[in-house]
Amino acid sequence: MAFPSSRPRRLRATPALRRLVAQTEVRPRNLVLPLFVKEGVTEPVPIGSMPGVVQHTRDSLRKAAAEAVTAGVGGLMLFGVPLRRDAVGSAGVDPDGVLNVALRDVRAEVGDATVLMSDTCLDEFTDHGHCGVLDADGGVDNDATLAVYAEMAVAQAASGAHVLGPSGMMDGQVRVIREALDAAGHAGTGILAYTAKYASAFYGPFREAVDSQLRGDRMTYQQDPSNARESLRELALDLEEGADMVMVKPATAYLDVLRTVADAVDVPVAAYQVSGEYAMVEAAAANGWLDRDRTILETLTCIRRAGADVVLTYWAAEVAGRLDHG
Ligand code: PBG
Repeated sequence: MAFPSSRPRRLRATPALRRLVAQTEVRPRNLVLPLFVKEGVTEPVPIGSMPGVVQHTRDSLRKAAAEAVTAGVGGLMLFGVPLRRDAVGSAGVDPDGVLNVALRDVRAEVGDATVLMSDTCLDEFTDHGHCGVLDADGGVDNDATLAVYAEMAVAQAASGAHVLGPSGMMDGQVRVIREALDAAGHAGTGILAYTAKYASAFYGPFREAVDSQLRGDRMTYQQDPSNARESLRELALDLEEGADMVMVKPATAYLDVLRTVADAVDVPVAAYQVSGEYAMVEAAAANGWLDRDRTILETLTCIRRAGADVVLTYWAAEVAGRLDHG
């Protein structure tokens, strides 16, 4: 063969050609911005391991939410950081707890202009930092936790969340939350199931973001990073229990799981680009070791390419602001 007859490079020759044939796009509407709100602060508190991300005051949260909506993000995911914690996470259930108050604030600010989501989990609210309540031996009590999640879910729906994100990895959590919502007149509130959530070291900076009290780890309830097959089992359960959307978390190190899940479902698929993924890129970029903006867009594009319709990312508002809306 003197010359190749097939020349893939032909379609790479100009920006216009590359744009014409690009298979995957990141649009503002695909991105969901996680936001932290802290009780009792008068100024936003920077999170050292997540440069550019803060624990918001009630006021700065409203402002950040409005700005993200203007930038065109598809949704917001709220996490609350309470002043007082106890063994059963009472502040998470309390209608006047920081997260429920913040949900009402943000819903009043942005209405239905974006999708308001809420973390439905106890770890921010417990004094031991676990995602559930503990049994007599100090283990996480699955079924006792479900009862608390049910109450929490109803409080969050009543506070204006459009979609709940139960992130605690208790067995049966989607079913219990669905039933509680329906019984309380919130049949229209959706559930974004944390279907495949791994016990990941990449959550490190998030622990600072929510002032986590956790000692130890979450290996008895979150998935072992070694396991792929198990995600299909979790997926089948979540769909059967009533999940409206399913999620894989973390994103970048779990793109194989994301692809497998995306190929198996007929509901929208999300992926969570977590705090450690954010921190790694920010740290390397700050050292001049990575081109920050290119790296960010590449990670998001690749997460979309692997099958995510929706990406939760701390860069959501920034990136949305840079992209064309639509
Ligand atoms: C638990 C929760 C965690 C994250 C989201 N929800 C922490 C954990 O499971 O330990 C991590 C998100 C991130 O790292 O960005 N409520």
